[in-house]
Amino acid sequence: MCILLRIITALLEIETQGCRLPVLRKNQENEDEWPLAEILSVKEIPGRKLYYVHYIDFNKRLDEWVTPDRLDMKKLQFPKKEAKTPTKNGLPGSRPSSPESEVVRVAGAGPQHTPSRPPQPQAQQKSIPTKTSLPDFQNGTARRPMPNQPGRKRKQPPNCGGTDEDSQDSSDGIPSTPRMTGSLVSDRSHDDIVTRMKNIDCIELGRHRLKPWYFSPYPQELTTLPILYLCEFCLKYLKSLKCLQRHLTKCNLRHPPGNEIYRKGTISFFEIDGRKNKTYSQNLCLLAKCFLDHKTLYYDTDPFLFYVMTEYDAKGFHIVGYFSKEKESTEDYNVACILTLPPYQRRGYGKLLIEFSYELSKVEGKTGTPEKPLSDLGLLSYRSYWSQTILEILMDLKPDNGERPQITINDISEITSVKKEDVISTLQYLNLINYYKGQYILTLSEDIVEGHERAMQKRHLRIDSKCLHFTPKDWSKRGKW
Ligand SMILES: *[C@@H]1O[C@H](CO)[C@@H](O)[C@H](O)[C@H]1NC(C)=O
Ligand SMILES: *[C@@H]1O[C@H](CO)[C@@H](O)[C@H](O)[C@H]1NC(C)=O
Ligand SMILES: [Zn+2]
Repeated sequence: MCILLRIITALLEIETQGCRLPVLRKNQENEDEWPLAEILSVKEIPGRKLYYVHYIDFNKRLDEWVTPDRLDMKKLQFPKKEAKTPTKNGLPGSRPSSPESEVVRVAGAGPQHTPSRPPQPQAQQKSIPTKTSLPDFQNGTARRPMPNQPGRKRKQPPNCGGTDEDSQDSSDGIPSTPRMTGSLVSDRSHDDIVTRMKNIDCIELGRHRLKPWYFSPYPQELTTLPILYLCEFCLKYLKSLKCLQRHLTKCNLRHPPGNEIYRKGTISFFEIDGRKNKTYSQNLCLLAKCFLDHKTLYYDTDPFLFYVMTEYDAKGFHIVGYFSKEKESTEDYNVACILTLPPYQRRGYGKLLIEFSYELSKVEGKTGTPEKPLSDLGLLSYRSYWSQTILEILMDLKPDNGERPQITINDISEITSVKKEDVISTLQYLNLINYYKGQYILTLSEDIVEGHERAMQKRHLRIDSKCLHFTPKDWSKRGKW
């Protein structure tokens, strides 16, 4: 018996990575459950082993290190050779072929007040990850795809040391460059496992402690720290509180670099040029990657602008979230990555970021769409934003001459700067479109109207276009960004 167990244990030691088995976890009601999980890694800490598990049917942000007693070894399944699951991508399915320039008649537009059943979903948004754009690494002038190479080894001075310019490169006892592997590598090859695992335990950012959800290619040396310290204004990363304090005596930033292009109340937006403020932009991307399960840019920030939203108090302008945007997009993208930091999620900031991105598009006189794929949370936020924005317009339509009011998809798109495809997919998602006697008719049910009104009452944070001071640049006319 004893021998047999040993053999099994030995087997487990060699073979557990990639295996699947039920793992004990608490569900939202704090009850025990045993969902199937994949073992991604094993590590020894003094006296015991820990297993890093991914729960198969759950979002990766729930992945965690567990002790062996939580593993149901009896039900161990050995890995099958199987293709990696493709990235989840919550895009609305196929595009409709039709209604876009057709006149759409709106039935039931205008105020209606009949009490009825619960409102339409309108999932209140959480964070808003989206995106993927895998840039080439750019060093100086040469742009080339990054080879799959391990992180650079660097001498590590014993303490913070060094002088302190506004650059991460100014030696604070930490390597200057983030890792060149990880999510920067587009195919999921040898470091698949590495990038599937959270590597930073905790980040202190101003008065917040953040628990990362996903891998981010911070320098390897920093991944063993219990807490990684960030300067909340320049986003420089430091390995200890002491180093941070030291940095703060020298860092005089109290807001993101770049121009403040919007301010209303305590909310501001700063526009940062990824070429001019490269270090800041890279550090922002590193932080963002902790909460975005996508490949994202870290090095070649030149082709991007970053719009950082802040909330002001006596201590300064505190980062709440951001989105990035290509200086020139051939595909009408008006957002690349977008994120509300976790302490600010579920409070309307995500939608504010989205609203701002469309305000910029309005000033540019263009329609825009977020880069695909959208994350699960990103799609929820966008759906909700699109629905509210479109319903706002439809409900404002006045009957003309006693006839049903009319509007085209193009009209909606031009008024909102929401790209036509997204207008159509939203109308379909809301299930408003009916085809009747050769015409498309939009029917706004009482449920829809009520749900919309309720949602709008909760939407306190809005962008006020009068507070936006923004002149778009024509980047195509500049030889170089
Ligand atoms: C950039 O890359 C080239 C070729 O790989 C190399 O020779 C050069 O030293 C690098 N420049 C910098 C600034 O790292
Ligand atoms: C950002 O870029 C501007 C313009 O190049 C520069 O003056 C400023 O010092 C930079 N700030 C930071 C924090 O990098
Ligand atoms: Zn700083």
